[in-house]
Amino acid sequence: MGIEEMIVTPWEVVGKIDYKKLIEKFGTKPLSGKLLKKIEKHAGKLHMQLRRGVFFSHRDLDWLLDKYENGEKFALYTGRGPSGPVHLGHLIPWVFTKYLQDSFDAKLYFQMTDDEKYLITPKMTSKMALNHTYDNLLDLIALGFDPKKTLVISDMRCARTMYNIALNVAKHVTLSTAKAVFGFTDNSNIGIVFFPSIQAVPAFLPSILEGKNVPCLIPAAIDQDPYWRVTRDAAHKLGFYKPAQIHSKFMPGLGKGGKMSASIPETCIFTIDEPEIVEKKIKNAFTGGRATVKEQRRLGGNPNICSVHQYLYYMFEKDDDKIKELHNLCETGKMLCGECKQILLDKVQPFLKEHQKKREKAKDKVDEFLADNKINIKLPWKG
Ligand code: TRP
Repeated sequence: MGIEEMIVTPWEVVGKIDYKKLIEKFGTKPLSGKLLKKIEKHAGKLHMQLRRGVFFSHRDLDWLLDKYENGEKFALYTGRGPSGPVHLGHLIPWVFTKYLQDSFDAKLYFQMTDDEKYLITPKMTSKMALNHTYDNLLDLIALGFDPKKTLVISDMRCARTMYNIALNVAKHVTLSTAKAVFGFTDNSNIGIVFFPSIQAVPAFLPSILEGKNVPCLIPAAIDQDPYWRVTRDAAHKLGFYKPAQIHSKFMPGLGKGGKMSASIPETCIFTIDEPEIVEKKIKNAFTGGRATVKEQRRLGGNPNICSVHQYLYYMFEKDDDKIKELHNLCETGKMLCGECKQILLDKVQPFLKEHQKKREKAKDKVDEFLADNKINIKLPWKG
């Protein structure tokens, strides 16, 4: 059996991911210690996801921070393709974005690409996509974003503004570029071929709404990078700053290898999962354990391939010393998988209980966040 080929596109992530290779392939830069120090200087402390290399790569972040130091504030832009319920993996970049919003007092533009999900998901109706936008927005609000500094753009609901700005982008992107960057073929529907120009828009919105060039930082998993290449190209042609990016790795699933995928529900914990379901999923998770207790005591487990350890590492064990200790206890056979699963479960269940409460409360706040009537650009009849 050969090694599975690594494929990373906005719609597909398969194979064993080599992040160093991705940096080379996509032409991004690794996050250097110097840059991390600079973030720390302004933010007060480095977020766990920066300390642990969850965010590992960037474009123009040095430029953006220089601007910030010279008094030019930046806007944040991130988003979600509302394909179904939100799972824990989705929350990772959002939690990080909130840290950036709080630390740099930045406005956040959050795009819900209900149009994209409708276009690429055969069985999805546009109504379903809009319902997912509403549902996913509850998760976003539950994380505690500041409504005064956060605008959530549903592409379908904000179509007039989005479309009119996207036209400027679309005019500068040829079909051959779109094919090369996204892998579109003659079988791709023409909606999805146009769509990258819509995903470019929120990077320019801060500048358009404020009437001056505003630097923009996009935190996102690295599979979204093709979009930013097209966006940066268009920015240059349209006279906007090129948006900067900070890229994260993928949240592994509970299964063996690969990222958390909503299309394989056993491999991910949804934010709306009931406690018993969560327990079952964690108990059945793939670990780096040995076949028998005896063997594990003698030879130790392998935390590096263990999905339970990854969950603790990426999100739930915030104490750096503790996560190191867990790693060590596993490797030396002093801790068995059952105990480790229980540690994770004891963290995930209370988190979800709280989150689900906040999600309910979020239903009253949806209008405060939606950009619907707040970003209507003016269209002149004449001249
Ligand atoms: N295309 C993304 C997805 O399918 C959603 C998205 C839109 C996004 N704009 C973004 C993600 C900006 C990160 C940053 O999930």
